[in-house]
Amino acid sequence: MNTRHAVTGAFGYSGKRIAQRLLDEGSEVITLTNSLKRPDPFNGAVAAYPLAFEDETFLVDTLDGVHTLYSTYWVRFEHRDFSFAKAIENSRRLFHAAKLANVRRIVHVSITNPSLDSPLAYFQGKAEVEQALAETGVTHSILRPALLFGGEDILLNNIAWGLRRFPVAPIFGDGEYKLQPIHVDDFAQLAVTEGKADGVRVVNAIGPETYTYRELLRTIGEAIGKVRPMMRIPAPVGYALAWITGVFVGDVMLTREEIAGLMAGLLHVDDRPAGRTRLGEWVKEHADTLGRRYASELARRRNRSADYTDL
Ligand SMILES: NC(=O)c1ccc[n+]([C@@H]2O[C@H](COP(=O)([O-])OP(=O)(O)OC[C@H]3O[C@@H](n4cnc5c(N)ncnc54)[C@H](OP(=O)(O)O)[C@@H]3O)[C@@H](O)[C@H]2O)c1
Repeated sequence: MNTRHAVTGAFGYSGKRIAQRLLDEGSEVITLTNSLKRPDPFNGAVAAYPLAFEDETFLVDTLDGVHTLYSTYWVRFEHRDFSFAKAIENSRRLFHAAKLANVRRIVHVSITNPSLDSPLAYFQGKAEVEQALAETGVTHSILRPALLFGGEDILLNNIAWGLRRFPVAPIFGDGEYKLQPIHVDDFAQLAVTEGKADGVRVVNAIGPETYTYRELLRTIGEAIGKVRPMMRIPAPVGYALAWITGVFVGDVMLTREEIAGLMAGLLHVDDRPAGRTRLGEWVKEHADTLGRRYASELARRRNRSADYTDL
């Protein structure tokens, strides 16, 4: 079996962990990335090429001889510098190039509960990308994580950051909506396993524990020694607070849609866990570092030469 694989964003978050797993297995790994100048954790072992969506010939040549393409590419929200519509189009281009290059399999990262009918552009766009992948006819696995955690993640880190700094913990609505976080290394292992599977598969990539949002805040607060009184607030007030905080830290902390998706229970599915690492234990082990610094989505997009851990 050909063991040359391509991973998007191998100097980023999940792509880095997937690439590392593949290298550990002795595979040759290349990456397609927007961040060619980010610190290379692989000491040159992963050849890096630009994610040049506009240049089909280049993409096809780069993917020539690749067995599995691991596609992590997406944008978190709409912004003047990037959009869901463009991310959908770019994903189509990438999949099409993979087909032309005769890539054998695509492992694509989506989200729990994508839907073409969703009023939320993130979940709707993810469903469109899944559909575009199916239309290529390339055999594939679609992985649907709810939330990734384990170093370099944004949401969990920034919850801890907020608990460290503010005297109360705002809860959007009743806080009883659920989440199923999976550790990024378990997720990477799942991705690599799916790269070796056959046919078309869709896997909910969820961890072994289900938390309500309230429980998640309590778990993190207890681990870092910052249990705060929880204050119920309406979603629009939560969004306003996140917006104001975002202004101070120079980021988009949370979007309206992210709050709506969370409150609608879209980060929860009724399925078997695919990961083993328990968030509760991981948080205790990393209590000293979790949330010491704010993790900024926009800084990661604007500074493409620093490591995620510094942004
Ligand atoms: N993180 C989570 O908790 C979570 C939860 C559910 C689903 N997911 C899905 O999992 C996949 C991987 O997420 P991740 O957190 O591991 O992402 P990531 O490493 O930060 O980014 C993945 C890839 O997308 C590119 N990218 C991200 N935002 C971009 C932007 N605004 N403009 C241009 N390129 C951008 C990155 O560019 P570079 O090449 O420059 O690094 C990288 O190639 C995504 O499809 C995401 O929707 C993540």
